[in-house]
Amino acid sequence: MKKILFVCLGNICRSPAAEGVFRKMFAAQNPTASPSCDSCGTGDWHIGNLPDARMRRAGAQRGYNFTHRARQLRESDFADFDIIIAMDRDNRTDILVRAPSEFDDKKVRLFTEFCTGKFANFSEVPDPYYGGEKDFELALDIIENGCAALVRLAG
Ligand code: 4NP
Repeated sequence: MKKILFVCLGNICRSPAAEGVFRKMFAAQNPTASPSCDSCGTGDWHIGNLPDARMRRAGAQRGYNFTHRARQLRESDFADFDIIIAMDRDNRTDILVRAPSEFDDKKVRLFTEFCTGKFANFSEVPDPYYGGEKDFELALDIIENGCAALVRLAG
């Protein structure tokens, strides 16, 4: 089974939501296995915090319970995970700067590479932190779409 790490800037909006959605979708398709995934941020401002209340609320309305505690990307993540998924292009740049080797560079992907259908044209998951309710809904729409493909790939 592939080990997947979701990475955004603060680890309180997009990547913990992606981790939570992935976990729920994985459990629905693989009732006897547990997923190997985590999330983190490139920044350190929110270490230890639960996801942003707005993202938890938006997720709860769709049946998710986002309980991850924020942590920062660390060097051992490059050895510990098979796929490191950046939510936007800035995140990807920040991850690549920290990647210890070219081998590790190859693990880094953009979340939207896995999106299909009406979300196939998105090139990143827009940061909802400074936005409103609609922005959180859009982030979750994109996340649900990409996670459906990722669950098939991971299993
Ligand atoms: P995230 O959103 O990267 O999706 O967790 C953000 C959270 C916090 C900040 C920026 C983006 N911040 O500037 O504190």
